[in-house]
Amino acid sequence: MTKHRLLFVCLGNICRSPMAEGAFRRVAEEEGVLHLFEIDSAGMGDWHKGQAPDRRAQAAARKRGIDISGQSARKVESEDFDDFDLVLAMDGSNIADLMEIAPHGARHKIRRFLDYAPHVGTRDVPDPYYGGAGGFDHALDLIEEAARGLLADLTKTGKASTKKGA
Ligand code: 4NP
Repeated sequence: MTKHRLLFVCLGNICRSPMAEGAFRRVAEEEGVLHLFEIDSAGMGDWHKGQAPDRRAQAAARKRGIDISGQSARKVESEDFDDFDLVLAMDGSNIADLMEIAPHGARHKIRRFLDYAPHVGTRDVPDPYYGGAGGFDHALDLIEEAARGLLADLTKTGKASTKKGA
């Protein structure tokens, strides 16, 4: 069976996208469908290459029973557009940056993550890096809603919704 290949993307790959990867793994595991997915995360920059997620992100995730300590930061590469079906951006700035580096014909794979949670009332997961711990909890609230929405979308429509034009 072909798997859904999902790449979560933010700026630094140490706060939002690692939490999104962890939250999506968790909801897919809870629904018994984790085996249907290949999941990874990456950042637009390589400032934190090889580092584990920010300690505040790890702590916020741990409070919800999500372990993201084993993740390692890396930069998005153009090959990622071959290796993944969907590239899920945390904010509008990430979308603009991804559009710049997407190979010809691959832009349709870029999605705004919070489009899968239209009820939350915002389209960007705010960057918590320069703020306090509360920012991480808020980001995770938004991320968990979108993770559930994305999973529902993919399991409802099967592989079709990761295809061009879907
Ligand atoms: P993230 O947060 O994009 O959610 O991982 C950031 C982490 C680090 C930096 C920026 C944003 N930085 O500039 O180092």
